[in-house]
Amino acid sequence: MTDALPYSLLDGAIVATHEVRISPFDRGFLFGDGVYEVVPSYNGKPFRLEAHFERLRSGLDALQIADPYPRARWLELVHELIAANGGGDMGIYLEVTRGTGRGRDFLPEADMKPTVFGFCWRLKEPQPASLQQGIAAATLEDIRWSRCDIKSISLLGPVLLRMQAAQQDADEAILLRGDVLAEGGSSAVFVVKQDRIVTPPPGRERLPSITRLVVGDVLDALGLPLDVREVHRDELLAADEIWIASSTREALPVTRLDGKVVGTGQPGPLWRRVFEEFQALKKREAG
Ligand code: PDD
Repeated sequence: MTDALPYSLLDGAIVATHEVRISPFDRGFLFGDGVYEVVPSYNGKPFRLEAHFERLRSGLDALQIADPYPRARWLELVHELIAANGGGDMGIYLEVTRGTGRGRDFLPEADMKPTVFGFCWRLKEPQPASLQQGIAAATLEDIRWSRCDIKSISLLGPVLLRMQAAQQDADEAILLRGDVLAEGGSSAVFVVKQDRIVTPPPGRERLPSITRLVVGDVLDALGLPLDVREVHRDELLAADEIWIASSTREALPVTRLDGKVVGTGQPGPLWRRVFEEFQALKKREAG
């Protein structure tokens, strides 16, 4: 669950969550005209925050929205939000929309003032069941748009896909464009075959995942090579191991795909090594 903690961020101020109000004329509400970030914070310390801000900045650039704050102000606001909610392990959501208009025009008005909203929630340790048994995923055709590299708040595609996956008793959708792996519905994907680990390259079909980079660092630390190239549906279906990775779920093993077992049906040996090293890296960076 992501129940919001008592304090949120609205337009540069920390406010009581139950008092947050924005106008329905906000272009985020009318058009999904904005971008967002989800940042994990461990022990009160945001993890890989700079990388998240880099991605936020490139999303804002793509939307031609001016970044509302210099980086130093962003950092202050995030730390104030964490402190107001008592630190610990949390997920932090940050959203910037183009702002509130006078009515509803597809073409934005000139000189709009972006709306900034943020909230956080308690991040639970990965569920023991997910670690011991892995999770189930379903392959689905990617119905999203052609700029999945932008972390857009327009998330109707991923919502419909997650609902469809849930109807197939799957915890995550693994999206294919034709026969090519795009990414998870809200995660990056890694595929293992005969000890070779593969993940697709950056591109417009997928979000530049920060956790994908963290897993890359973990693999470096373990001395395990990572192949970055497109992955065909057949490789996915024949994989020994499949992992999904995201800011809120770290790296999780997929042990059932479309109702069939992946590999042995148990979390694989390479995933176990990645999981251990991931925890060690978190400790090193977040204390
Ligand atoms: N989603 N791909 C998509 C489509 C995603 O929505 C996400 C994360 C990722 C993984 O990115 P990262 O490692 O930077 O979290 C990949 C977040 C967690 C969300 O929308 O809640």
